[in-house]
Amino acid sequence: MSNYKLQVKELNKIFSSGVMFKKDQFQAVKNISFNLRKGEILAIVGESGSGKSTTARMITNLIKPTSGEILYDGTNINNRKFKRLLPEKIQMVFQDPFAALNPNHTIGYAIGRPLELKKKAKGTVRERVLELLTQVGLTPAEDFIDKYPYQISGGQKQRAVIARVLGLEPEVIVADEPTSMLDVSIGIDIMNLMLDLREEKKLSYLLITHNLGSARYMADRIMVVFAGEVVEIGNAEEVINAPKHPYTKLLLHSSPDPWRTEVEEIEIVEFADTTLPKQGCKFQYRCPFVTESCKTVSIPLYGTSNDRQVRCNLYREELVHEQA
Ligand SMILES: Nc1ncnc2c1ncn2[C@@H]1O[C@H](COP(=O)(O)OP(=O)(O)O)[C@@H](O)[C@H]1O
Ligand SMILES: [Mg+2]
Repeated sequence: MSNYKLQVKELNKIFSSGVMFKKDQFQAVKNISFNLRKGEILAIVGESGSGKSTTARMITNLIKPTSGEILYDGTNINNRKFKRLLPEKIQMVFQDPFAALNPNHTIGYAIGRPLELKKKAKGTVRERVLELLTQVGLTPAEDFIDKYPYQISGGQKQRAVIARVLGLEPEVIVADEPTSMLDVSIGIDIMNLMLDLREEKKLSYLLITHNLGSARYMADRIMVVFAGEVVEIGNAEEVINAPKHPYTKLLLHSSPDPWRTEVEEIEIVEFADTTLPKQGCKFQYRCPFVTESCKTVSIPLYGTSNDRQVRCNLYREELVHEQA
């Protein structure tokens, strides 16, 4: 058995819009590869529109990749037999707990219904729902089980969503900006709950966030994406304390992270246009360190595949040397 829960290989997603001969194509995800180890929290960090949610939706089989391969415990997720099992093994938690809960149903129903459908409860469904509510800190559970979503707070709703997900006994949770709609302190409570549950249930998480602070708080490793490509990946502390890619440095500067140690000064290049360069490094318009060669040749990820990797010419010498 491999040590990986998930192996993502050369994942691509091209969206087409328009009609017949006037099709617009847009590549949202470009050659993304990474592994998620058992029990690990890997954060995918990047600004809005960088392809994070698209990656998450491919991994959870909500949309089809244009190309590439996703293995779960070594099995392709499109394997016919496996396809039915997958929705239980990988669960998603979304950004908006308000949208995730039907306003016409009680919290107890929202958590209990999937248990009924999947025959997951050993005792009665109500007993199991009370147990799950307690596990996510909605206590006393009897006070919450018959409440409607409008009667509880945003943080409590996200806890209820997590309880529903836990009921299906997943092994991997893909959390897409799980705290970005919550107040900071409530968000930290939710992150602490997720960390506790990882220990108790031996879960693995793919945490998607635009906030490097949350990534640092939760993740073992961090993968930074820009314009659909991985630009840097590595151990979370290393990426935060010694960021290499200019984009990672920029993100650190703009992230209000109270735990951050000082990072080197970086000149911010103002660039309002969101069009991407046709060739060369995708980040060249916003990079303070851009050179002529960055503008013509596309840049590979330098470094060893299981360790630190950076898509930047500044590190070509250093990392190619390490690779050898
Ligand atoms: N169904 C779709 N059709 C066309 N374009 C899409 C679709 N879904 C996402 N995109 C585009 O792909 C890019 C990446 O989107 P997304 O993965 O949601 O980014 P993120 O989650 O990092 O903010 C965006 O430019 C978005 O507009
Ligand atoms: Mg998103």
